[in-house]
Amino acid sequence: MLVIIKENYDAMSNEAAQIVADRLRRKPNLVLGLATGTTPLGMYKVLIRLHKQEGLDFSKVTTFNLDEYVGLPPTHEQSYRYFMNVNLFNHINIPERNIYVLDGMADDIDAHCDWFEQEIAKAGGVDVQILGIGANGHIAFNEPGSSLGSRTRVKTLTDTTRWDNARFFEKKGEVPKYALTMGVGSIMDAKELLLLSSGKEKADAIKAAAEGPITAQVPASVIQLHRKAYVIVDKEAASKLSSSYPGTWRSSFTLEL
Ligand code: PGA
Repeated sequence: MLVIIKENYDAMSNEAAQIVADRLRRKPNLVLGLATGTTPLGMYKVLIRLHKQEGLDFSKVTTFNLDEYVGLPPTHEQSYRYFMNVNLFNHINIPERNIYVLDGMADDIDAHCDWFEQEIAKAGGVDVQILGIGANGHIAFNEPGSSLGSRTRVKTLTDTTRWDNARFFEKKGEVPKYALTMGVGSIMDAKELLLLSSGKEKADAIKAAAEGPITAQVPASVIQLHRKAYVIVDKEAASKLSSSYPGTWRSSFTLEL
């Protein structure tokens, strides 16, 4: 695990985008695992800029998104498919057929989740998986208590998560109670993990994920078992870490872990 502490949100976003761009230049048919939420927005902005100004090419890229709310159609403004269209897909040259986002309206949820896992496998697995972290230590919608070996499935959202996400809805009651999410085990299969976090409200979660015991109570802590995981944080999110991290001073995207 390489912990990279950057000065602020913009520097964190740029670092993550440079790693993704580096992997994409080396492998044009990169399989990217994508995340929603406030955290990766800055990274997506940099990737869009690299596409528009430097011709970073997404034409052979395949993407798999981590999760989606149950009951929201892709046209719903709070659906994660809509979020991805607005914040990334509409601005880069990725073919529609290469985009995989779980369908929160699927009739047969179990079959749909199995299909999603099969598509990831057919694509050769995820090369680089972007992750945020919940204040409660979740990754994707794998809430505390999620099996560390779990695969894509439906999960009940905790009250904490529904409160955290209520800011995007008019009323908390409108936040869906269930979500489809890649499992902790599915995420761990990715060849590289980039966990991004900023802000002091994430400091406890980052401390628990990077330095705490590995426990299903903090699903993000499982990244300590991954062979190639980067934790890219700003100073506030890093403020409760007790170790010093030598990786903080050098450019990460040329490093091999
Ligand atoms: P955020 O969400 O990026 O909006 O903070 C992250 C998460 O809950 O996984």
